[in-house]
Amino acid sequence: MVCCVVTTVVAAVVVLILTVKFIYRYQSGRCTSKTRLVGKTAIVTGASAGIGKETARDLAQRGARVILACRNVEKAERIAEDIKKTTGNTDVVVRQVDTSDLTSVRKFAEDILRTETSLHILVNNAGMSGMKKRKLTADGLEVTMATNHFGHFLLTNMLLGLLKASAPSRVVTVSSGVHQFGSSLDVDDLNYEKNPFPKKMVIYSQSKLANILFTKELSEKLRGTDVTANSVHPGVVYTEIMWKNETNLFTYIFAMLVRIMGKDEKLGAQTSIYLAVSEEVNNVTGKYYADCKVGMNSV
Ligand SMILES: NC(=O)c1ccc[n+]([C@@H]2O[C@H](COP(=O)([O-])OP(=O)(O)OC[C@H]3O[C@@H](n4cnc5c(N)ncnc54)[C@H](OP(=O)(O)O)[C@@H]3O)[C@@H](O)[C@H]2O)c1
Repeated sequence: MVCCVVTTVVAAVVVLILTVKFIYRYQSGRCTSKTRLVGKTAIVTGASAGIGKETARDLAQRGARVILACRNVEKAERIAEDIKKTTGNTDVVVRQVDTSDLTSVRKFAEDILRTETSLHILVNNAGMSGMKKRKLTADGLEVTMATNHFGHFLLTNMLLGLLKASAPSRVVTVSSGVHQFGSSLDVDDLNYEKNPFPKKMVIYSQSKLANILFTKELSEKLRGTDVTANSVHPGVVYTEIMWKNETNLFTYIFAMLVRIMGKDEKLGAQTSIYLAVSEEVNNVTGKYYADCKVGMNSV
């Protein structure tokens, strides 16, 4: 009898998990654009793993020159080789940048301005999950906000001239649906000097809210330039991010559930790719997208 009940419960849980997985993946947005990018140049930050890697692969598949902007050059070189092999595009290069380090961002951007003649797509994708305790970078910035927001803010601003000169061009910034939990963000205290340091989920959410606020403001400043700026929620995607930073039992269980029911990396990259290439969003700017559609955001 007990055995029968256990079997029924296990079967019900398995069916439930498979149903959620099927529905979630089935209704996920997919970029169906056939846009080719021969003669175009794209930069993807954090392309050595996850969503960034699959975004870079897709852009390379379409014929773009793709610059993988990564902190770990050895790892990124392996990904670049794999992208070249799978796409047949040999114009895939690695350049080092640590988005949490403003000196590194400046050096990277100066190198791009010196060596590249055009830039059509900038995907601000690199990111980390939140820290439990306030930890400062060499610049004295809180590391989550530095990695996810400040680095990309500086990078985008340094590359704006090249983006404008190459227009039409696009800036895509990878935010997250969890930005909604970051509404307590004090924009006058982005370095958490006045307010108590929030919980790790909240600091991550606030950095992702900063991505959206930055995108909105940027799009306003870029009106009339033919450079668009939009932000993305990629969905719930099983990637390395789940394991990189201060894991505990909760994160382990969450990661396992995402692995079973969430999107894979390729599906997670679809909205970034859509905003980077689709003709449907030629003149769309200042928006937040999820599943290749304008998404709900709390801003
Ligand atoms: N996965 C999700 O469910 C999800 C949901 C919403 C939003 N997002 C966002 O999606 C983006 C991509 O995340 P992912 O899930 O693909 O994670 P991932 O697999 O861990 O990839 C993150 C990428 O960012 C890079 N990175 C991290 N810190 C960096 C730094 N200081 N400087 C330069 N590069 C750095 C990583 O480099 P290494 O390879 O050297 O670690 C890696 O290439 C992030 O912005 C994340 O917040 C993810």
